[in-house]
Amino acid sequence: MLNGYLTVLGIESSCDETAVSIVRLKNEFDGEILSNIVFSQIDEHLPYGGVVPEIASRSHVESLGPLIDKALNEASLKLNNIDGIAATAGPGLVGGLIVGLTTAKGISLGAGIPLVGVNHLEGHALTPLLTNKVSFPYVLLLISGGHTQLILVKDLGEYIQLGTTLDDAVGEAFDKAAKFLGLGYPGGPALEKISKKGSNVRFNFPRPLLKSHDCNFSFSGLKTSLIREVKEIEPLTENDLADIASSYQQAIIDCLREKSSRAISIAKEEYKDLNIKFFVASGGVASNKAIGKSLNELALRNSMEFVAPPIKFCTDNAAMIAWAGGLRLLNGQKDSLEISVKSRWPLNEMKINGGMHE
Ligand code: KG4
Ligand code: ZN
Repeated sequence: MLNGYLTVLGIESSCDETAVSIVRLKNEFDGEILSNIVFSQIDEHLPYGGVVPEIASRSHVESLGPLIDKALNEASLKLNNIDGIAATAGPGLVGGLIVGLTTAKGISLGAGIPLVGVNHLEGHALTPLLTNKVSFPYVLLLISGGHTQLILVKDLGEYIQLGTTLDDAVGEAFDKAAKFLGLGYPGGPALEKISKKGSNVRFNFPRPLLKSHDCNFSFSGLKTSLIREVKEIEPLTENDLADIASSYQQAIIDCLREKSSRAISIAKEEYKDLNIKFFVASGGVASNKAIGKSLNELALRNSMEFVAPPIKFCTDNAAMIAWAGGLRLLNGQKDSLEISVKSRWPLNEMKINGGMHE
């Protein structure tokens, strides 16, 4: 440890990004990102319209080693300057997770530094502490290609799930619609772009579960109604396409906003003593400007501060893994070389010092 700082190398390989980062932790609220490298495999998956697990695993194997060297160079560090190694251990695609975690185990063993297996979701959940002026507790809307969750983040390792999706993740709703509309992959940014030119009220897409008294989402039916609308008005003009994209995005926004509103009310009511001040949106979908605008309004209405980490830390990255792993190391966690990856790993199983242990 240099001057009492903890320098952690993080590896992320749970889906289609191979990422390596080095973060230096001063304390639980202060971290400095020394390097942050993300290699996107998008081009390799593009011809298939989605992530192909075998291609992803092979690509992680090929790029991880050189990316670790690059991250060390960028930070002007050598491996013996690293105090701990953190790798995503789940949830995600098993093949990719094995590549990252096994590499981390090798480094841990070879360099004699502690290992932490990090929950990818915890990485997203703790990112705002690293990138923004946020402190515990906060209500978090985690919206990505794999997850749609509303979580009360009370403290490190203390997460209360307030709502989740019953079927597709919100990012999938964007990706599937964009694929069907021929907008390419990943669909979210493409759909957002085209929707800027369209009307968000021309088509009345369903808002599933909007009236239910919980904070859960359902997005699988949305795509079906999109297909139905398109079949009715085919062939589509450019205007039609923009209107469909915009109306579809609006249906998603309404669901996210209504359920977030409910989650905020529940959290404020049930945990009055916590004095929750922040509402955070994280995950790839949080980079959507129209979604951000609506959520910001919601936060203001609830006298809360809305926070969204910078886009490059909203999407998958390894700084969040190094940071979450570093926080756990600071709190005394150290995983054994026996730990294994988990394709499923809910956040409510994350008690500190519980770590990877069942
Ligand atoms: O967090 P992320 O990079 O990866 C995980 O799924 O963990 O999120 C990727 C997802 C994809 O579904 C992508 O289409 C979506 O985030 N996304 C967006 C936008 N940018 C990325 N969705 C809507 N609007 C965007 N601007
Ligand atoms: Zn993610």
